[in-house]
Amino acid sequence: MSKQEESDVDEESPIEELRRRRREAELGGGEARIERQHEKGKLTARERIEYLLDDGTFEEVDPFVEHRAQSFGMDEKQFPGDAVVTGYGDIDGRKVFVFAHDFTVLGGSVGEVVADKICKVMDKATENGVPVIGLNDSGGARIQEGVDSLVGFAKIFNRNTKASGLVPQISAIMGPCAGGATYSPALTDFTFMVEDTSHMFITGPDVIQTVTGEQVSKEELGGAKTHATKSGVAHFAASSEEEALDDIRQLLSYLPQNNMEDPPRVQPWDDPDRACEELVDIVPEEPRKPYDMTSVIDRIVDEESFFEVHDGFARNVVTGYARLDGRVVGIVANQPRVSAGTLDIDASEKAARFVRTCDSFNVPILTLVDVPGFMPGTDQEHNGIIRRGAKLIYAYAEATVPLMSVVVRKAYGGAYIVMSSKFLGSDVNYAWPGSEMAVLGPRGAVNILFRNEIAEADDPDARRQELMAEFREEFAHPYGPARRGYLDDVIEPADTRSRLIDDLELLERKRTDSPPKDHGNIPL
Ligand code: HXC
Repeated sequence: MSKQEESDVDEESPIEELRRRRREAELGGGEARIERQHEKGKLTARERIEYLLDDGTFEEVDPFVEHRAQSFGMDEKQFPGDAVVTGYGDIDGRKVFVFAHDFTVLGGSVGEVVADKICKVMDKATENGVPVIGLNDSGGARIQEGVDSLVGFAKIFNRNTKASGLVPQISAIMGPCAGGATYSPALTDFTFMVEDTSHMFITGPDVIQTVTGEQVSKEELGGAKTHATKSGVAHFAASSEEEALDDIRQLLSYLPQNNMEDPPRVQPWDDPDRACEELVDIVPEEPRKPYDMTSVIDRIVDEESFFEVHDGFARNVVTGYARLDGRVVGIVANQPRVSAGTLDIDASEKAARFVRTCDSFNVPILTLVDVPGFMPGTDQEHNGIIRRGAKLIYAYAEATVPLMSVVVRKAYGGAYIVMSSKFLGSDVNYAWPGSEMAVLGPRGAVNILFRNEIAEADDPDARRQELMAEFREEFAHPYGPARRGYLDDVIEPADTRSRLIDDLELLERKRTDSPPKDHGNIPL
């Protein structure tokens, strides 16, 4: 510093000094690194926060924190605020806490004080009942800080777990996220990724090639598409950072601030008594004919309110949020267009996780049922469909939020039980006329019950058809379960919306009591 500069600084008022220090902190790793970030097609941590939050609402916490590492030249590498920007602000006028790794500072790496800054906002979020959003863009544990970095991650994981079910936790991956660092997003409620610029993996392509010889690109191994369609690690894959941030804002509009509050009801814009006449034409009578369940959902819920979650993964089941007369509902529905809507391992786990998330945050669940059963096959059996399918039963049976279900066409076997049936604890159970509930579909049932008779008949096919017709007469309609009270009513498709809206209003006052326990033992 020249003598002139020194005397300028001497003459700085305290307020000028504060402003200068803030400006320095806001530069993160400096202009050149910001430029590099932009060249990679990425926003900086501060630009992301600014885009995410309502204009001018961000209040920073800990902008002057500095690391205490000395070795490997770290004493020379000081950046005010270190490699993460933390604070709070508003989304649609409601508070959120946010932390955003700053890749321009030491690659956003997580050392002791970075972890402490993140933990501070997580603590404030849970103490004050406010959602927390993490924008991840980091080289992971800071190599120069050794075990202190690992301890930092342990502190974060511990808080992720303790905050689970208390406040919504949302992660967006907007750059690298490798090794153990992936487990923080994995512990949160929702993970967003950005195509081409974000990657998540426990071990990267180089390590994989060294250990197993397998060659795989970063994108194929752990890009947004891979995690949103194959592994299910990501709930959302966006084509740009802005799209991911917009989607986070929309997701939060369906969630309460914490587990003690209800999700926000908005002024309804759609007629609660709107008759859904088209539903009869959308769902074919023939039980095996495919159709798109999202068209059914769109007709029943408030216009344009359906927001699908995990839409690229296990597409044989549909999950998402919507509104009924302005009230939020979580939707779980079989998708006959994909694998005939059977339940398999991925679908069970996807739906189970969604049911639990709704139950944590007081979101009533509407289940639309059209399911031929569990997916048969050695692949499913050997990979644990029994223990993994059990998660969905557990999630529904454990849920205390209002549960409503409508069988729109068929519900066979174990899948009938699983999909929010009466005695798992569902509050309201309806079926449409023409729907059927049975242990097996007509063909499967007669092939087992009358195997010999069919084989010995003069015309086996004709005899099978006769027996199937008899079976249908007995079981393939909703009046058997309706006579026993397993269904509360058989309703016309057109009336579904208005009926559910009435029920949802009634169920707002639902009370549940169960004896206290430490925690259940969900088949994880
Ligand atoms: C310290 C790091 C760092 C790290 C990156 N940097 N990662 N500094 N610790 N973990 C620094 C680089 O030295 C560089 O500094 C700057 O950040 C930018 O990094 P680049 O390599 O130039 O950027 P890029 O080419 O985009 O590559 C990004 C990257 C790569 C893919 C993340 O940096 C990388 O592979 N980093 C190491 C990743 C890693 O193995 N982390 C540990 C994971 S295990 P300069 O000064 O040169 O600009 C883990 C355990 C968690 O996280 C424990 C939980 C239990």
